[in-house]
Amino acid sequence: MNWVTICDEQALPSKRGIAAWVAGKAVAIFHLGDAGIYAIDNVDPATGVSVLSRGLLCEFENELFVASPLHKQHYSLTTGRCLENETLSVDTYEIKRQSGKILARLLA
Ligand code: FES
Repeated sequence: MNWVTICDEQALPSKRGIAAWVAGKAVAIFHLGDAGIYAIDNVDPATGVSVLSRGLLCEFENELFVASPLHKQHYSLTTGRCLENETLSVDTYEIKRQSGKILARLLA
């Protein structure tokens, strides 16, 4: 997948998630300050609802997770794995800054 421009770097809110379209998929993007910028599918695979950008963020054993606002499953921001159910996962995306813009692409 090619890089897709998401927004201006200054438009990305800090310490919370936003949802964006990346090549026809809803993606949740989290700008965590010095901890980096992460992107995963916005759709919660447990429910099929596009909500993960609104989930609470937490850390477990040095791994960052977002908890779905619906049934609270945790999804890793780095691998997409679900902490509570190994049959569930989300896709993860690579993020880069370029010329003042934020770009994303699906990790292979
Ligand atoms: S959000 Fe409460 S334990 Fe993860």
